[in-house]
Amino acid sequence: DWTMAAYRETKVREIREQVGSGKVICGLSGGVDSSVAAILIHEAIGDQLTCVFVDHGLLRLNERAQVETLFRDHYNIPLVVVDAKRRFIEGLAGETDPEKKRKFIGGEFITVFEEEAARLGGADFLAQGTLYPDVIESVSFTGGPSVTIKSHHNVGGLPERMNMKLVEPLRELFKDEVRELGRELGLDDRFVGRHPFPGPGLAIRIPGEVTQERCDILRKADAIYLEEIRNAGLYDAIWQAFAVLLPVKTVGVMGDYRTYDSVCALRAVTSIDGMTADIYPFDAGFLSQVATRIINEVKGINRVVYDYTSKPPGTIEWE
Ligand code: XMP
Repeated sequence: DWTMAAYRETKVREIREQVGSGKVICGLSGGVDSSVAAILIHEAIGDQLTCVFVDHGLLRLNERAQVETLFRDHYNIPLVVVDAKRRFIEGLAGETDPEKKRKFIGGEFITVFEEEAARLGGADFLAQGTLYPDVIESVSFTGGPSVTIKSHHNVGGLPERMNMKLVEPLRELFKDEVRELGRELGLDDRFVGRHPFPGPGLAIRIPGEVTQERCDILRKADAIYLEEIRNAGLYDAIWQAFAVLLPVKTVGVMGDYRTYDSVCALRAVTSIDGMTADIYPFDAGFLSQVATRIINEVKGINRVVYDYTSKPPGTIEWE
């Protein structure tokens, strides 16, 4: 694409001018935005860039391994992976309030990131995959004058505290344009087309207390749901699809036994930019197949429901 090729060249030049011979550190989330930002910056300044991926234990199945493969094997970009799983799960123990969960994860993420940056001998610049809608939403999120609907992770906070200048090469772009830039940079379609994933990860898809066990249960259900969506050829028609593990147990029957296990909710929406969303109208046969698989294959879940709420009035994530 001519436009994106030109954008790429312009940004590479700008990044070189801005950074000079400085050191840049980039926080990877596993998502498309931070990955595209990192690849673009690496093209501009090579090994002056180091990427840091904090594994907070709230990732989707195999997510960390996918990022490691992509950066190390495919692009040869210096990558540090920090295993912070224990700190996050211990810090979340007993917490059920959505905003407190978000704030703890955001704060702890900054602490881990700062420690790692110090270990690397510091850096002059912090790179972020901030998009245009992030810039707008952090000013007034989801409408409503100056009402904070959700405290967003990964915008703000970090740069001031770390006393670093920001490199944000995607600040003028919308999500679809970032994907186009990703393709222009040779990222493969499976990665470029990935659904967005929130910074606080699975924690905001487990209403109530987040435990290791509940994370593991949710990861399995979520992976089955997404596998079925891919197999049905529906993945690219959907903005975001994921499972939510509810803090509610219901009675069921399996074979000759009574079960008493958790409810899993499935969410799938279409959207242009995440600001508004419509539910994805799966056919009933598809949903019942997913439900059957989840109940048969995931211990701890015995009931599956589908979320029919658009945004507004709902939000995409449940917390
Ligand atoms: P909501 O739930 O507010 O989500 O309708 C809109 C979009 O934003 C994603 N989201 C986040 N992304 N950090 C992120 O990077 C966050 O803290 C966060 N919270 C929500 C959500 O997945 C959806 O795509």
